[in-house]
Amino acid sequence: MLRRYGAEVSERPSIEIDERRARFDFFTDLCERLHARYADLDEGEPAAYIPELAGVDPDRFGIAAVTVDDHDVRVGDCGHAFTIQSISKLLLYGLALETHGREYVLERVGVSPTGESFNSIELDEEHRRAPNPMVNAGAIAVTDMIEGAGLEERIARVGETFERYLGRRPEIDRAVWSSERQTGNRNRAIAYLMLSHGIIGPRVEETLDLYFGQCSVLVTAADLALIGATLANYGVNPRTGERIVPADVVRDMLTIALTCGMYDYAGEWAYTVGVPAKSGVGGGILGVLPGVGGLAVFSPRLDPHGASVRGLRVFEEVSREFDMHLFDPARPWQRVVAPA
Ligand code: DON
Repeated sequence: MLRRYGAEVSERPSIEIDERRARFDFFTDLCERLHARYADLDEGEPAAYIPELAGVDPDRFGIAAVTVDDHDVRVGDCGHAFTIQSISKLLLYGLALETHGREYVLERVGVSPTGESFNSIELDEEHRRAPNPMVNAGAIAVTDMIEGAGLEERIARVGETFERYLGRRPEIDRAVWSSERQTGNRNRAIAYLMLSHGIIGPRVEETLDLYFGQCSVLVTAADLALIGATLANYGVNPRTGERIVPADVVRDMLTIALTCGMYDYAGEWAYTVGVPAKSGVGGGILGVLPGVGGLAVFSPRLDPHGASVRGLRVFEEVSREFDMHLFDPARPWQRVVAPA
């Protein structure tokens, strides 16, 4: 399904609209070309450390984008559901900031990139907090902040957050949830270490269960692109018009996504791709171009950093060919302030 940008305003032709339509058509064509180019790339394997993930179809491949004015690009397996995994960390960080405010969150979770892998057992000893909300330590500390009397209430709170972003009630992959619960001992170690430092509260097993549950939420590439478009639109879902998250919270979410979203690859990512992004071991990568839209790639074969191999390639190419890098001097949308 493909909708062309600006189709409904074609009776009001203008240079700007023509230029934007041409760029949308170019972008759509680029996604189609990149899908064809990388469909046979079979480097990497699906995540195996969560046994249930090892069995996913490794060759699925989808590229989806949604613009801030709700126009779609969908190429390949954009309707195929997979677990969101670490991409959930970004949304939950937003929820924590909105619920508790910056100061409270910053006391427990910092904003420093670690240069370490996502599951590193590393805390910011000086400030007695997790290094950042994208590595597992920080994400578990953020999950600890989700309010509610018990697991059921807290998981409902997570579900509501997803529902607002997706415009529908999300499902959880219970097999993946239970697989993570059974094998997530490294996360257990991180959580108990944080308990010993007083970073998180005593309901550790419940918080871990919630964390595994949020990672097991099923999404599609099209869903992720819509989430990206909502963030690109400073917190307003372009499909429903509903404000999902305050604009100043989005600013903090995107800053962290740019500096920490790709973990120990974040520096290279910022250099080569240059947009806030988040990867997940389910095979999704979500990127956000503020003021323009969200781009999502789904392909379960992962590189050693736990990011989708085809996803990385597609983002690199889009950045280059579409001038997507935030600091790219050729970005046409930087010329919004025209000289008088
Ligand atoms: O904590 C875990 O192991 C997973 N549930 C999430 C990991 C993840 O997606 C890392 N990102 N690439």
